[in-house]
Amino acid sequence: MRDAEGIRESDLTIRSIREPKWFPAVLIVLCCVPAVLASGAMASDIIAHTRYFGSNPVKEGEHFLGEWTLRFIIASLAVTPLRQVTGWNWLAKHRRTFGLFAFGYLMLHWLTYALLDVQLNRGDLVKDLTKRPYIMIGMAALLLMIPLALTSTRNSIRRLGGKRWNRLHMLIYPIAILGVIHFWLGVKKDITDPLLYGVCVAALLGWRVVRWWSRREAPHAATLAGAP
Ligand code: HEM
Repeated sequence: MRDAEGIRESDLTIRSIREPKWFPAVLIVLCCVPAVLASGAMASDIIAHTRYFGSNPVKEGEHFLGEWTLRFIIASLAVTPLRQVTGWNWLAKHRRTFGLFAFGYLMLHWLTYALLDVQLNRGDLVKDLTKRPYIMIGMAALLLMIPLALTSTRNSIRRLGGKRWNRLHMLIYPIAILGVIHFWLGVKKDITDPLLYGVCVAALLGWRVVRWWSRREAPHAATLAGAP
């Protein structure tokens, strides 16, 4: 037997699975691991001349943190489809967790660039910002992410109201696209990685378009079905 959404009764036990108690803490620890590894490896390479990040630890660290930024953006976009497929509604609150980690990793990526790569040289910062399209695009994504980070508290959700908060947080869609374009323009030759990230972002945004379209069509279909 199926419910209104076409889900078998036997699947409803899966749908009602509760969040395991340990999940939020384990998730947060796991999300911190790449940042700890990157900071440790960069510090060790710069101070003790180890080569965890190879011969150019700053560039490698920048790359590592940039890629994790994109992974967290993609993880936050994946929460809604995963929740809709599994029925695990408790996943919803982790969209915010992934979004905040994306912002944290973006700040680390930007700090590595500003402090270690261009070493706060005003001339280089201005030149990059005005002459290098991939930096302009990265900065646009960073600026768009600030309002999301500032409104990620429970208080902001209450103050803005769910509808307005959700609408504002749709900014994550252009941010994800800008992140992929930035990556694509930043790589020198092999475009395999940005292409793979691009496919993930396109699939996750495509899922939303299809859902939105089928929901728009559903009342129309119901009207036609009910027509004499
Ligand atoms: C959502 C925003 C962003 C995402 C997702 C992101 C992601 C990435 C990724 C994945 C890379 C690796 C490219 C590669 O080296 O193969 C990268 C490189 C880089 N990013 Fe970002 N980034 C973002 C914003 C920024 C911002 C705001 C800046 C600085 C203003 C910046 C500066 C750089 C630099 C300098 C590189 C190194 C490129 C090279 O190897 O020469 N990024 N970024």
